[in-house]
Amino acid sequence: MDLSAFPYLQGNYAPVSEESDFGPDELRVEGVIPENLRGAFMRDGPNVAFQPNHYVYPLDGDGMIHAVYLKDGQATYKNRWVETSHLKTERKFNRTLYGSVGKLLDVPREVIEAGGEPNPVKNTANTNVLYHGGKLLAMWEGGFPHLLNNDLSTVGLYDYDGALKAGDALTAHPKICPDSGDLVSCTQRWDSANYYVQIFDKHARHKKTIPVQFDRKGIIHDLQITQNYVVIFYAPAFHDVTKAMRGEDPFSWEPEKGTKILAIPRDGSGNIITFETDAFFSWHFCNGFERDGQIVIDYVWINSMPFTQAQGTGVEKQPRRMYRMTLDKATKTVTNEQFSDVFCEFSRVDERLMGKQYRYGFAASSNRDWGDAHGYNCTGRYDFNTGETKLCDYGPEANAGEPVYVPNPDSEREEDGWVMCFVFNPGEGQYLSIVSAGDFDKGPVAKIYVPTRIPNGFHANWMQGLTL
Ligand SMILES: [Fe+2]
Repeated sequence: MDLSAFPYLQGNYAPVSEESDFGPDELRVEGVIPENLRGAFMRDGPNVAFQPNHYVYPLDGDGMIHAVYLKDGQATYKNRWVETSHLKTERKFNRTLYGSVGKLLDVPREVIEAGGEPNPVKNTANTNVLYHGGKLLAMWEGGFPHLLNNDLSTVGLYDYDGALKAGDALTAHPKICPDSGDLVSCTQRWDSANYYVQIFDKHARHKKTIPVQFDRKGIIHDLQITQNYVVIFYAPAFHDVTKAMRGEDPFSWEPEKGTKILAIPRDGSGNIITFETDAFFSWHFCNGFERDGQIVIDYVWINSMPFTQAQGTGVEKQPRRMYRMTLDKATKTVTNEQFSDVFCEFSRVDERLMGKQYRYGFAASSNRDWGDAHGYNCTGRYDFNTGETKLCDYGPEANAGEPVYVPNPDSEREEDGWVMCFVFNPGEGQYLSIVSAGDFDKGPVAKIYVPTRIPNGFHANWMQGLTL
């Protein structure tokens, strides 16, 4: 595979070619793994199996899950591709057959005639991995999720017992309500601009659909829940699939239109509150909650849509920072303030406090010069009580992935949990970092070194109680 033409497949963006299994004897641990942790840290991300035709941004690679299972203070590691029908078809033909989200390609006739996957839109299953209602799912926002077994073997596409219809694209960023256990998710469709909130109960059974009408298909990546609302950002970032099919740039950024913020009642009453403000883009929320007639939203702000059809340069020049937005329901006013000057992305919280007042946000963060050395070498803790940002620094050359808050099963305090992420540090190797949420100054309480590279990726979660 010659990846030299693809900036976003260099360095630790480059894929690994092996699926590996390492037991406790093969994983060196520095420090001590908390004994009462039983479950798995899993992270999804792109890992091209064949040399791509086009690679816009790290959105296009075949999904691969990296998992560290913890039990009795010991760790086991596994990584597996998600065996999608697109990947299986490419394996059969031993080459890349499909295009990217920015440039779709017609599927060769011989592939369709041979029973290969006919959909030109490749479901990469590369964005998130989630455990809810006893289902382990690899998610990608352009299609159905893939159901996995605990050992990461792939069962296949999952339609929630028929709740998802052909063409429905389920978000990779659902939120779990800590009170009801409901999964609050959404679908969009390639053939419609509309947006549908989808709610599944704690057993993963479909419960409710709440439709929202739009004139144009917006790029809506994440959603946030509060006690009564689903909040989404409708930025002036649009995708036109007919342009993608013609090979034209399907993405457009139209800042004069501003960004709308929609608060959609979770009860389905339909009284959507729409707020308007200057144009901005965001990939990820941190948390949100309601207080005295206001909705407070913490999220990572970006000044504009951070990609085009043009192949990425491998360097992201745009700053991105934690912001706090306050929406006044009576006056419809929007207050939008920078919370910290630290560059960050992949914001998370203690999800027992999802949609509720909380103290700490966590995000992959940077304390080095942005620019050619872009990326995140720290885990940041954003204290919304004191305004302080604290960094756990893994070294100037390191790359730290999305931090996941893992609750301490024996405590309800945010400070007593742990924050985990994969770190790649040239010269040191790659490891799962476990940091005490209440003591960032101490650095990792444990580093679990994995003897194979773990490429940069997207989203991770802690799967409480999931074991091999
Ligand atoms: Fe995301």
